[in-house]
Amino acid sequence: MGVARVQTELPGPRSKELFERWEKVEAQCTGYQARVCWDRGKGVVVTDVDGNTFIGWTSGVLVTNVGHSHPHMVAAVQAAAAKLMNNYECLNEPRVQAAEKLVQILPAHLDRCFFLSTGSEATEACIRIMKRKTGKFEILSFHGGFHGRTYAALTAGGLAGPKKGYGPTLPGAIRVPFPYCYRCPFRAKPETCDMLCLDYVDDAVRANSSGSLAGVMVEAYQGASGFIFAPEGWFPRLERWIRSRGLLFALDEVQAGFGRTGKMFAMEWEGLTPDLVALGKGIGSGLPASAVAARSDVIGVLSAGEMSSTMGGNPVACAAVVAVVEIFQKEKLEQNALRIGALMKERLERIQGKCPWVGDVRGRGLVMGVELVKDKKTKEPAPELTKKLIDVAARNGLLIGSVGVFGNVIRVAPPLVITEDEAVESLDLFEKSLAMVEA
Ligand SMILES: Cc1ncc(COP(=O)(O)O)c(C=O)c1O
Repeated sequence: MGVARVQTELPGPRSKELFERWEKVEAQCTGYQARVCWDRGKGVVVTDVDGNTFIGWTSGVLVTNVGHSHPHMVAAVQAAAAKLMNNYECLNEPRVQAAEKLVQILPAHLDRCFFLSTGSEATEACIRIMKRKTGKFEILSFHGGFHGRTYAALTAGGLAGPKKGYGPTLPGAIRVPFPYCYRCPFRAKPETCDMLCLDYVDDAVRANSSGSLAGVMVEAYQGASGFIFAPEGWFPRLERWIRSRGLLFALDEVQAGFGRTGKMFAMEWEGLTPDLVALGKGIGSGLPASAVAARSDVIGVLSAGEMSSTMGGNPVACAAVVAVVEIFQKEKLEQNALRIGALMKERLERIQGKCPWVGDVRGRGLVMGVELVKDKKTKEPAPELTKKLIDVAARNGLLIGSVGVFGNVIRVAPPLVITEDEAVESLDLFEKSLAMVEA
């Protein structure tokens, strides 16, 4: 018998009551989610306030990489909270330990870090440091990119949602297409295109730069846009171009870091050596923590008083970071992500072969996107079907969410502790749910 068990209508009576109370007091501006009020989580299993249990494919939003409420993390956070919760910039021991642990697991050239609280703060800081180090103000970034909702981060982003009604964005943004090969903006084919989108980067800079280009900000894979992975070789070629221009290279691993793609950091796949890396989400696996990892000669441009954050480096968040690293070192979760991810992808590809709505399956490790379309030939996106599928899957005991430029990509991103049995059960539930919806 599996672990998923839904015994009430959704939302269940207690969830319904809480939704009604919530809607009266908090602005309703978040994305589409199943009508389930979460009560607790353990590993990949989520229990709602009505006692229904679900397998979660969301990890919050790719946050709880070590699993919901991992006992080692719970104990570490509880112990830290009982001692000291915040002391701002004054030193605390967990902060030292977290920095040591982080630098220890990062590629050797990234020998410094700085703790903040959110992913947006980390990407914003990367942009600030690139400008500060070079004295230049232009940033090259990518269509479909998502780096957060603060001003420089959303300016570098290439999605309309975070910018809506919020212009003008900051000056100095040069945005170019990311290799979204399933929907190539150049209508090219990956087998024959020779990555012409990278040649276009040169054209775009020639046409748009005032000569003040500081650096490049790019996600290791595009998360919010639909889990879009660049073809092999694209990133090394981009890095060569960055180096040939003497630019700084900031990689956004807020989502990709901490084992999600099957390596501790996604940059390891192709041996990239970014000057700055933004980390978030999985680094605190549920506690609000983020960091900039950097080369000391780059981040060293900041002098006393130039960067800090009220909650950044607080002892509770730092104790969480230490616990997360220890869990990874002990349980080798990135290897589990690789193994279970491969078997899940193989099954998802078989489902793609059978189901008329599954246009594309892509990803690596435990981050995969299933892109839903109305018709495989025209590739017309199916956002309404996606919403229906989210509801149907929840009723079947599987919690999924959507991403994508068109809101039509299912996130397959469970906590990295998922077992083979849980993976198979969740895929059965997914296949059953797909068979129950119609475009
Ligand atoms: C790649 C990436 N960068 C930055 C952010 C922003 O992180 P936060 O929401 O913690 O500010 C996100 C969040 O989804 C993200 O996916």
